[in-house]
Amino acid sequence: MHYSKELEEMARKLVAPGRGILAADESTATIGKRLQKIGVQNEEEHRRAYRELLFTTPGIGEFISGAILYDETIRQAASDGKPFVDVMSKAGIVPGIKVDTGAKELAGSSSEKITEGLDGLRERIAEYYKIGARFAKWRAVITIGAGMPSDYCLRTNAHALARYAALCQEGGLVPIVEPEVLMDGDHSIERCYEVTHRTLGLVFEALGQQEVVLENMLLKPNMVISGTACSDQADVSRVAFETLRCFRQTVPAAVPGIVFLSGGQSNEKATAHLNAMNQLEGLPWELSFSYGRALQAAALEAWKGRSDQVQAAQKALYHRAKMNSLARSGRYSDQLEKAA
Ligand code: 13P
Repeated sequence: MHYSKELEEMARKLVAPGRGILAADESTATIGKRLQKIGVQNEEEHRRAYRELLFTTPGIGEFISGAILYDETIRQAASDGKPFVDVMSKAGIVPGIKVDTGAKELAGSSSEKITEGLDGLRERIAEYYKIGARFAKWRAVITIGAGMPSDYCLRTNAHALARYAALCQEGGLVPIVEPEVLMDGDHSIERCYEVTHRTLGLVFEALGQQEVVLENMLLKPNMVISGTACSDQADVSRVAFETLRCFRQTVPAAVPGIVFLSGGQSNEKATAHLNAMNQLEGLPWELSFSYGRALQAAALEAWKGRSDQVQAAQKALYHRAKMNSLARSGRYSDQLEKAA
């Protein structure tokens, strides 16, 4: 792969100071689960109306540099007929696209997953570029448990991530490489560190073997954090410290930015962790967010499918985006959270 100035500029734009990414690329099944929680039917018009609410939030472009969409969404339009990609571009938000087709059972294993979607990917990338996408996402899922993750799972997922990233760079999209080590389980932060370290090591080895240009990509990792059911939860400063200790050893400085997933953390925790990391000095990469749930949960809850609650939902999204924007420079605080 050849270095591309255009792709590096796009990657840097996505992690520009004070801004981050909105992950709104839930598949039809996943958004269905979120809608069910607020009592809304999983119908195309409801999915469309909800995404319109997100992208038309007044002033959101100040904090959001790009949004990741699902195949259905990138082809949809606002209620006035304007394609979403145009609505977003006008708001200063770069359209991105999820190109994997989901995590499926890994052959010969009943408990580990491999992410699929490589077949026909070159052609799909070309089509998405034409529609207006300028970056992409592929998520690999790594589970911590008894005997897991296996080397087999880590290596096959790393290989697929690298194949995806190389195809994106060839086709003019900035690849977001997302190896997610899940928070589920009672494992300690030390175990999460160990697995994340191994995962990232193998991912960057595969990216190197497949000649992916590091300046032309972004990494979307989990934080190094205690398992959800762990009885000894590491505090915010420990999470920040261990996460960066792990990344300094595994993520080359040539990568322009790291955009975290929230992975099931509470809204405030996800913001506080990012904030604490950005208070530490001497980092070679931009540290930003690419949150799904931690940006959207409050908005969904406020909306509940009611057209008279659109403004309230937009206010909730605006607030979370602003708090995470402040966390990009370590200026977030409890007082600011509560002041709103
Ligand atoms: P969460 O922030 O909800 O983990 O979603 C981010 C994402 O895009 C996962 O692939």
